[in-house]
Amino acid sequence: MKEVLATVLANAPIAEGVYSMTFSAGTPMPVRAGQFVNLGVGDGAHLLRRPIAICKAEGENITVCYQLKGEGTRLLSRLPVGGKVSVLLPLGNGFFVREEEKKIALVGGGVGIFPMISVLREYVPKGKEIYSYIGFRNKNAVCCLDGLEKSTALTVVTDDGSYGKKMNAVQAFATDMDRVKPDVVLSCGPVPMLRALKEVMQGTGIPCYVSLEERMGCGIGACLVCVCNKTDGAHARVCKDGPVFNIEEVIL
Ligand SMILES: Cc1cc2nc3c(=O)[nH]c(=O)nc-3n(C[C@H](O)[C@H](O)[C@H](O)COP(=O)(O)OP(=O)(O)OC[C@H]3O[C@@H](n4cnc5c(N)ncnc54)[C@H](O)[C@@H]3O)c2cc1C
Ligand code: FES
Repeated sequence: MKEVLATVLANAPIAEGVYSMTFSAGTPMPVRAGQFVNLGVGDGAHLLRRPIAICKAEGENITVCYQLKGEGTRLLSRLPVGGKVSVLLPLGNGFFVREEEKKIALVGGGVGIFPMISVLREYVPKGKEIYSYIGFRNKNAVCCLDGLEKSTALTVVTDDGSYGKKMNAVQAFATDMDRVKPDVVLSCGPVPMLRALKEVMQGTGIPCYVSLEERMGCGIGACLVCVCNKTDGAHARVCKDGPVFNIEEVIL
């Protein structure tokens, strides 16, 4: 993990309330799918960094996509090209797919679609078959299709049916699961979505890994702001022990 003062190369809207930002970290960064950065929002009044998944890492250039939520992401959206941003990276364990797992199903909803792009970028070149089930709020929120279209098959759905079928990503996956028979399922999205996925996966014997979105402080395992409860009664730090966990391992 490094702290760098990165230079913003691009920072512009790509869908309603969603921005894509590319910055140069100044040095090439080895990044695994599902890892994240912790971005300084930089005005002194907002001391906590904001965790954002890495979509794309190419040499020293890193691209993230973020939805405007509150003050932190609003400040990020105002960073000009050429501006500086303090970044801790790469953070977290990321998604790890075993050699024998040839067929991957991706289930992503909301801001959880962004780490799915990093999975496609890492595992398509490694010869994996990837079936993606991606849910957006409505057609105005649809974005990143160029990255998602690297999938072997891509199903895009929306909550209101304004783009693709009217359903969520878990429903789209559940209706196709028996046909595709994935060796492993990787997912990221809001907790109710992950709970629904846990139900779908129960009794299938298919391993399923989820990336959790917890509020964070330090992002490096020191402050315990991000602790989640595990099914064995223990606790885990989402930033350091995760954000990716086996779905059976965590209480959602
Ligand atoms: C590992 C990780 C990866 C993430 N990747 C992305 C990403 O790729 N793109 C993206 O848009 N967002 C991502 N998030 C969520 C993002 O960190 C929050 O949306 C952001 O910190 C909100 O900051 P804010 O100052 O704009 O909003 P705040 O004013 O802090 O909060 C606004 C609203 O968002 C909620 N919120 C804040 N933080 C989180 C959080 N971590 N999870 C869920 N809800 C939250 C608050 O409860 C509040 O309702 C990720 C979170 C984690 C932990
Ligand atoms: S954010 Fe500080 S321990 Fe995870």
